[in-house]
This record gives sequence, C-alpha cells and structure tokens, in this order.
Amino acid sequence: LSPFGNSPIVAIKDVQMRAPAELYQKLTRYGQQHLLGFWDLLTEQQRVELCAEIAQVDFEAIAGCLRNQTEQNPWSVLSRAAEPPPTANGQLVSDASLDEARAAGRGALAKGQIGVVLVAGGQGTRLGFDHPKGMLPVGPVSGRTLFEILIDLVRARADLHGCRIPVVVMTSLATHDATVRYFADHDRLGLNAEDLEIVCQGNMPAVDRESGKILLAEPHRLALSPDGHGGLLQALEHHGTLARLGSRGIRHLFYAQIDNPLAQICDPLTIGFHTLRNSEMTTQVVRKTDPLQRVGNVVLLDNRVQVIEYSDLPEQVARQRAPDGSLRLWAGNIAVHVISVAFLERVAQRGPPLPFHLAVKRVPYVDANGRSQEPREPNAIKFERFIFDLLPSAQNAMVVEIDPAEGFAPVKNGLDVSTENPHTAQAAMTLQHARRWRAFGGQIHAGAVLELHPLVALDTRRLQDWIRRLPVCAASTYLQP
Ligand code: UTP
Repeated sequence: LSPFGNSPIVAIKDVQMRAPAELYQKLTRYGQQHLLGFWDLLTEQQRVELCAEIAQVDFEAIAGCLRNQTEQNPWSVLSRAAEPPPTANGQLVSDASLDEARAAGRGALAKGQIGVVLVAGGQGTRLGFDHPKGMLPVGPVSGRTLFEILIDLVRARADLHGCRIPVVVMTSLATHDATVRYFADHDRLGLNAEDLEIVCQGNMPAVDRESGKILLAEPHRLALSPDGHGGLLQALEHHGTLARLGSRGIRHLFYAQIDNPLAQICDPLTIGFHTLRNSEMTTQVVRKTDPLQRVGNVVLLDNRVQVIEYSDLPEQVARQRAPDGSLRLWAGNIAVHVISVAFLERVAQRGPPLPFHLAVKRVPYVDANGRSQEPREPNAIKFERFIFDLLPSAQNAMVVEIDPAEGFAPVKNGLDVSTENPHTAQAAMTLQHARRWRAFGGQIHAGAVLELHPLVALDTRRLQDWIRRLPVCAASTYLQP
C-alpha cells in the first residue's frame, strides 16, 4: 500500500472495479490505483492507450527512488574525499604521446570503428523554441541549424579519414516526429540511409511531490516526460541499435549533445587516448572558471572517475584551492564522451542500472475531479537518468582536457537570458573560425563575420586554398568546400 499520506491527488472517488482486476491489484500494490479513477468515463480506445502507458512504467523503480529520497544525500560527505581527475593530456604528457594518440584516433576512424550518437531528446524548456532544438538556426552567416552543423562535422570527419561514420540521433516524445520529418525533408542531411538511425528515448511519469502519486496529464494519459539523456542506454538496447552497430564493426561511440555546435565530433586525440588506454569511457572536460560554475564536476572518488553535479557539491569543497592557487576540483563536464560499444552492451544487459536523479518541477495535471490544473509552484517530482553516471562503471575511464573556446558553446537559454543562448553560441563559432583563418595567414576586416564549413575548417589544404583565393575576408562570408 501507498507509503504516502493523503493529498488532493488521491481524494478521488473509489476506482470502479470494472477496470481489469489484475491491473487494479498491481496499481494498488504501489498505491497508484487512482490512475484508473476515470476508467468508466473512457472510451475503449482511451482505455487501451492508458493501459499501454501504465505497462511502460517501472513502478518498483519509482517507489525505490521515492524511498531513498529521504535518506541523507551522501554527496555532502563523499565529496570531501573527491580528488581532481588525472587527465590523459595533462601537462607532463609529451608531444610525442599526443601525436601517438592522434594517430591512433585517425586509425580507428579510418578502420570504420567509430559511430556518433547525438542526443536530441528532452524538452528544450529553457530555450522556448517551438521545434526540436536541433532545428534551431545558429550558423552565424549560413543560418545552418544545429542538426546541419553537427552532421556536417560528422560528414567532414568521414571525408577526411575516408570512412563511413554511422549516426544515431536520440529523440524524445516531444522531438521525435518533427526530427524524423526534418531529416526526411532534408535528404537525411546528406547521410546514407544505412548511416542514420533515429531512436526515441523512453519516458518517466512525474509524481505529486507530496504524495508520490503519479500525475495524470489527461484522464487517460500519464504526465510523462523524457527519462534523461541517460535514457540513451535503454533506447539503444531496446531498439536493437547496439547490436546493429556492433555487427557492422563499430567499436566506440562518440557522444555529443545537439545543443553544442562547437562539439569536437570524432576528435582523433580523444578517440586515440580512449583506444590506446583501453578506456571504456573517456570524457572531455574544461577547466572551470568559477568554483560555483553550473557544470558537473568530474572527479576521482574511490579510484573511479565520477561526476558530482554542481548542486550536490558543497560550496566549501567547490572553493578548495590547490597549493598553486588554482581550483582543486577544476574539471567541468561538457557532455562529450567516447563510449565503447562492448561496455554499453555489458551495462545494458547486466547493469548496474543508471540511477535516477529527482528534480522538483512544475507539471500541469488533471485533479481528482478531472479539472486541468496549471500549478504556479513546483508541484511534482520528475525522474531522469544521466549518461555520465556510466563513468564509475567503466574500466580505465579517462579524462581529456580541452579548451572551452574550441569545444563548448551550449545553447540552453532563449535570448531573455544573457548566457548560453543562440547569440553566445554564434559568437563562439565566429571567434573560433576567425582564429583558424588567421592561424593560416588569412585576414578578416573588422565587422566581417567568417563562417567555415567543417570541411574547410578541418582540412588544412582546403583552408589554405581558400586563403590564397581570398586573403582578406572583407564582408560576411560562408565558405563551403
Ligand atoms: P538539457 O539537460 O539541457 O535538457 O539537455 P533540454 O531538454 O535540452 O532542455 P531543458 O533542460 O528542458 O531546458 C542536454 C542535452 O541532452 C539532450 C538534449 O537534447 C540536449 O542535447 N537530452 C536531455 C535528451 O536527449 N534527453 C533528455 O531526456 C534530456
């Protein structure tokens, strides 16, 4: 029976016993029988839909999460033992080892062992854009969308290394249909049909924060939301994607988020360290610029690389300094990883399952009388899994430090917020492309914006050709191969 007290959600008239008895009993075991409260008012079709949604719910997991929620958060204690993570490309690493890693990365690409995963699910609430985030135009001159920019990067890498790179795009209920249509309408952005798979992530129901009762969005629909980017693991397993990738010889997946147009997709150095050190999961990090910066903290704890969310790291620990005055826990997570396929298969089949993180959010729902409620205050708990929680299970997990100016410009917010918005991402792209152009002797007039297609930016020969033809970029220009 429900371990939770009374709340408006459960003040519902007795569930009619005409609902299937087995289902009713199952729900009663978890104190969730109110989900059948409108059964008698539903059409046959609505009943089928409701049962299908209920069948997807892992009630045991939800009950477990809610029970554990009351336990003291162990991070406040655990994090005191956290150490900075060792980096593969730290200060003591010689140029020769960097070259060796780059060569190994190029080798793995050339052998066709690398695939790409772009997570493009979630709900993009903060951005407030009416379409999937991936459809947001951010190319500073080209107006190319996030999908186009990141797929251009994949195709540029495939071209440079003479290989095929399959791409998996993970969507959510909120983004799936529009994403499938977008790729179909745009000729799969130039990818071969066999090199693109679009898989939809799973959902988790939101529960009332007081009672733990699952909320209904409509009398026959649960209030569902995507299960977090960590839902990738189950999505890949559920859709058979891991097996398909494995059978075509893909050994490692390069993981990036669709909202980072600077992501160094298939960076040979990162892939090279990953393969040379037999790492099961390698993660790029940036040096934090502020102790309380809102990025996950990548640390070494219990001899395992782990991420402690910024909200879980006590301020006192976050502010600790090393003897040279730098931040002790300096490594910020930017959600760019290389993950081995065999590792993903092992965890998907044998665990440990990724834990759920709980977030208190505002979730509209229908009350016991069938009236829609739009709460003003956070009323519900949502459950999400995070992909970085794979790190502690990975053998030889490793960290590669990158310069944020060269790899991290996330688009999280709309223009009403001054940070991590489409303009800051465009500005970062513009600066990066200008640096690249100038590094090879090109010039740019003040006020002119230069945007480089990845094949121009990454292929030195092409870049130099362009600079010979256009030594001074005088007006805003988008250079394509
Ligand atoms: P965020 O955590 O920024 O979430 O996702 P979001 O849904 O994009 O935006 P908000 O928080 O609602 O404003 C980081 C990346 O992970 C993907 C997103 O598409 C984005 O690329 N993601 C997030 C998923 O694929 N699934 C999820 O459930 C959550």
